[in-house]
Amino acid sequence: MEKQGGNGCKRQVVVESPVRPLRSLVRPCFIFLLFLSTVIVIILLGFPDRFSQTDWWKNLSLYTYYHRWTNPDRHRGPSPTTIPPTTVPAPPSTTIRPLPTNHNHLGYPRNYHFIVDEPDKCNTQTPFLVLIVPVAPGNLAARDAIRRTWGNETLVQGKKVQTLFMLGLPGGPVAQELQEKVNQESRTHHDLLQSDFKDTYHNLTIKTMVILEWLVSQCPEASYAMKIDSDVFLNVQNLVSMLVSPDTPKQNYMTGLVWWHSPVLRNPNNKFFLPYEVMAESEYPPYPLGFGYIMSMDLPKKIMGVTPQIKPIYIEDAYLGMCLKRLGISPTNPPSKSLFDVNPIYSYGRCKLSTVVAVTTTNVSQLLRYWQDYTRPGPPC
Ligand SMILES: *[C@@H]1O[C@H](CO)[C@@H](O)[C@H](O)[C@H]1NC(C)=O
Ligand SMILES: *[C@@H]1O[C@H](CO)[C@@H](O)[C@H](O)[C@H]1NC(C)=O
Ligand SMILES: *[C@@H]1O[C@H](CO)[C@@H](O)[C@H](O)[C@H]1NC(C)=O
Ligand SMILES: *[C@@H]1O[C@H](CO)[C@@H](O)[C@H](O)[C@H]1NC(C)=O
Repeated sequence: MEKQGGNGCKRQVVVESPVRPLRSLVRPCFIFLLFLSTVIVIILLGFPDRFSQTDWWKNLSLYTYYHRWTNPDRHRGPSPTTIPPTTVPAPPSTTIRPLPTNHNHLGYPRNYHFIVDEPDKCNTQTPFLVLIVPVAPGNLAARDAIRRTWGNETLVQGKKVQTLFMLGLPGGPVAQELQEKVNQESRTHHDLLQSDFKDTYHNLTIKTMVILEWLVSQCPEASYAMKIDSDVFLNVQNLVSMLVSPDTPKQNYMTGLVWWHSPVLRNPNNKFFLPYEVMAESEYPPYPLGFGYIMSMDLPKKIMGVTPQIKPIYIEDAYLGMCLKRLGISPTNPPSKSLFDVNPIYSYGRCKLSTVVAVTTTNVSQLLRYWQDYTRPGPPC
């Protein structure tokens, strides 16, 4: 009986419905293909770092996009319409395009000169901390906002704090007019430094190097310097507290929002594109993001010492990371990562503002509002 039943069953399958096995194959096949494509997508997105010797991964735009969205420094991503908060806004008339020219020349050319200077800022009384703000010549609104807010904090916990603005040469049809205004502003406020390079987005590395040159020659006795962008809210009290802490190194110290594994972006349409010929490595050495970083005052001279050996890429903060690496110095994480924040969408209350060191803002009026909120009397939290 059993044997018969078995035969009957077999005959049923083979003879009566020859289509069934084909149809039942469709589902597993579909599931398999789905699985396969999922695996491929995961490999494309997630694992390229493991096989970094096969660099063709890096040329996939998917890879770039993946890094854009997993990278906390999102503005580094390929969005050509937004100006990253780590950098000084370019003059409004120019659109920022990746650098097409070859910049293979080695070493930062140290041939710029100050045309507006403040040579006595560090002579009369040595500051503890120098804040230098790179800003476009035409951005008077940002300078005035800073003068009315954190730039007016000149004595903090008994320590002298000095704020100065760093400008390049204005360009465009109204350059001469703008220069007259800059000269007038300098006579009024005595807080401008200006050097004779063209103030453009792709010259930001020059601006940073000129800042370091100024610190080396004019303010070597100060303890710390901070480069801070003009759109940043700065809590000077918390910054000074952090710097006077016995845990804070007095030498070889650079801190901020340190980006430890920043990929070199290979998509030519990306704003932060760098070709292989300029930088063969797949990631930059660690560096604090450009919107606000602090260094001990021994570093400007040390960094200037190695710049002749390092290609001056236009991404100024990554360039400093390359200089630090050459010096064998690693940046330091701040005591808490929440002290520095580049997310300008987040809405800060005064409690939060009382705990940070530096956060980016979206515009001048937001900076003024943050400051008003922060300085209102009464307990912040
Ligand atoms: C990736 O693209 C760059 C140009 O963007 C090219 O020079 C390089 O050879 C490409 N790499 C590979 C492995 O295809
Ligand atoms: C800076 O602060 C002082 C008080 O400490 C105030 O008198 C002065 O008006 C402020 N300056 C600006 C530009 O707001
Ligand atoms: C940078 O500044 C120099 C000196 O003024 C100028 O010759 C050059 O064109 C500028 N470069 C860019 C990319 O704007
Ligand atoms: C400034 O930014 C805030 C917050 O993003 C926005 O609500 C406001 O409209 C902006 N103000 C100006 C003048 O652009």
